[in-house]
Amino acid sequence: TRVFVLNGPNLGRLGAREPLIYGSTTHADLAELCVSTGKELGLDVEVRQTDTEGELIGWLHEAADQGIPVVLNAAAWTHYSIAVRDACSQLTSKLVEVHISNVHKREEFRQHSVISAVADGVIIGLGVDGYALALRWVADHV
Ligand code: DQA
Repeated sequence: TRVFVLNGPNLGRLGAREPLIYGSTTHADLAELCVSTGKELGLDVEVRQTDTEGELIGWLHEAADQGIPVVLNAAAWTHYSIAVRDACSQLTSKLVEVHISNVHKREEFRQHSVISAVADGVIIGLGVDGYALALRWVADHV
């Protein structure tokens, strides 16, 4: 089974970006973790990251058209992008929302997600392990 792991803005800077909040794992390390976890689970995982909203929306359309499950960290778009949410609503397979940090311990503006209501489930605050957990759930439910 093919699975997309899609990461939004600033996540390409993992490792360098606010390490006290996001940890020292780089995006390349995260991608490797997702691909190797996927292999163990019999999933063909493709990891993509973008700082451009339209690009993410295009990938979500691709997932919708091909029935591909998605693990999504929409980063800051999570909190306000109705366009990303509308693209998520069109998905035809599973959607797991992931956040590396515990957004509920942080600023008020991070405490609402426009994505959660259209996701199957949400994993928050478990660091990059959240991605591996999300992939395990996807493997059991597709
Ligand atoms: C994040 C949390 C968001 O509030 C923030 O804008 C991010 C990353 C997380 O993974 O913890 O960029 O989605």
